[in-house]
Amino acid sequence: MRLISILGGIAVSGGIATAVLAHSGAAGVVKQRMDAMEAIATATKALAGISARKTAYDPQTIRSHAMTLQMHSGQSLTRLFPKDSISGPSEASPEIWANWQDFSASAARLEKLATGLGLAADNGFATVRRSIGRGATVEQIGARKVNTVFAAIADTCKSCHARFRVAK
Ligand code: HEC
Repeated sequence: MRLISILGGIAVSGGIATAVLAHSGAAGVVKQRMDAMEAIATATKALAGISARKTAYDPQTIRSHAMTLQMHSGQSLTRLFPKDSISGPSEASPEIWANWQDFSASAARLEKLATGLGLAADNGFATVRRSIGRGATVEQIGARKVNTVFAAIADTCKSCHARFRVAK
């Protein structure tokens, strides 16, 4: 699971080598969404470092990575999954189209959390993290602490992958 290694902060070089391998043979919309996911992964990795206090806390950097996540989520993400588009090295599961509403909801949650993270960039860290409910508005998310919002983002990646991505 590359996501776990990304969140665990394992050597970047290994991640890049895997990405190049995974992308060979990908074409069209499959390649486009793999590239989008890689952009998401790079931003998430940087945010994980900040959230774990391994790298410096900088609101502008947080806003910029949050913007990258926002740009590639919601409908920008779902439009890269036309019906039954599984080809080449794609790890997309057919469950996506059998449960389109849940898949879209997960993409929308990522967009909402990423937008909220941009608003929360100046809020600092929480020592006690309480989870963010499904019904939270962008403004409510924007009032939370950076590491709380980041934890919810990481959960969203994991839960979507657990259900809709098959490891090859
Ligand atoms: C709405 C569901 C969904 C969400 C949310 C999501 N992903 Fe993905 N992700 C997928 C699917 C499906 C694939 C497989 C796409 C394919 O291979 O065709 C994937 C693939 C990937 C890949 C592999 C790309 C490649 O080169 O093969 C990475 C890395 C990744 N996601 C990271 C993330 C991170 C980090 C997050 C959270 C910030 C995230 N994803 C959120 C559904 C999602």
